[in-house]
Amino acid sequence: MNIDSLSTPCVLIDIDRVKANIKRAQDYADKNGFTLRPHIKTHKIPSFAHMQVEAGACGITCQKLGEAEVMADAGLDDILISYNIIGFDKLTRLAALAKRVRLTVAADSLFTVNGYNQIAATTGVTFDVLIECDTGGGRCGVQTPDEAITLASTLKGGARFAGVMTYPAAGGTEKMAEKLAEILSSFEKANIAVKTVSAGGTPDLWKAHTVPGATEYRPGTYIYMDRSQVAAGAATQDDCALTILATVVSKPLSDRAIIDAGTKTLTSDLLGMKGFGHITSLPDVLISGLSEEHGILSAKDGLPEIGERVRIIPNHACVVSNMFNMVYLVSGTTVINALPVVARGRVV
Ligand SMILES: Cc1ncc(COP(=O)(O)O)c(C=O)c1O
Repeated sequence: MNIDSLSTPCVLIDIDRVKANIKRAQDYADKNGFTLRPHIKTHKIPSFAHMQVEAGACGITCQKLGEAEVMADAGLDDILISYNIIGFDKLTRLAALAKRVRLTVAADSLFTVNGYNQIAATTGVTFDVLIECDTGGGRCGVQTPDEAITLASTLKGGARFAGVMTYPAAGGTEKMAEKLAEILSSFEKANIAVKTVSAGGTPDLWKAHTVPGATEYRPGTYIYMDRSQVAAGAATQDDCALTILATVVSKPLSDRAIIDAGTKTLTSDLLGMKGFGHITSLPDVLISGLSEEHGILSAKDGLPEIGERVRIIPNHACVVSNMFNMVYLVSGTTVINALPVVARGRVV
């Protein structure tokens, strides 16, 4: 079956590019002596997680408990949840998960650490904990090495200190390396062994070898790449595996055409760029605006006609994955298979 037969809007995943992206990153990690723990929030598909592990990844990263449960159900058995898990209900689910898989989880406060200590004590489960450190990303993470040491020393029983994790700002590798060096030296002075130093982010993936002390890296977007990664210099357009197929449904003016993909397909993420995606066959046409189910294409000339189809590289592939129940695996323009996005919407 050819992609021309598919109803639009739909998501196409170029399987040849997926395989090449997985291999390229794994080869790079192997060559530079760190492990890869890919973040599955990009694809949310168990068979892709298995492909990443079969290629050599040490395990996977999930952002949410719900994603981790889906992946555990599918047989993934070494999972990092890079998130503070808070509240009795979620801690109970965390303990159940720790009985099924080798589990690691993040913490950046005494509140979180106390919850982990309690659930480990009351259920008898064991799991590893990484202390999240803010090394310039400006999101979660303790702000000083001393805070990290306090949290590490407070963990007890089945909630075992295993190391530190950080999620740097895009382009923030140098600052992250500096901060990590300070943190690791403080742990050394305190005589506390740090087994795992987990860093991440596709924009700076190819600089991972310049971060001394980092033992693992958690790229997510690298499996699909997207327009933002091309802009960051981490990929070329030919590496982008996820595209959206859309149809022109209206052309009210010579300089305006409307496609059947709006925010519910492309999402409203701009990530600092102009336009809501890149049309592969029409690089000079701007996706200038979106409403829920309409995308506005603008150009002085060269706009496609009603009924014509376009393929779009989205600004941000990960959020598009969360919009669709199913994606189509393709090789070139041949449809190979339809895959359910099993962990889609599992944000709890
Ligand atoms: C904690 C954490 N690690 C790794 C990643 C992967 O980042 P990227 O998709 O840029 O590779 C993310 C992305 O949101 C993240 O939040």
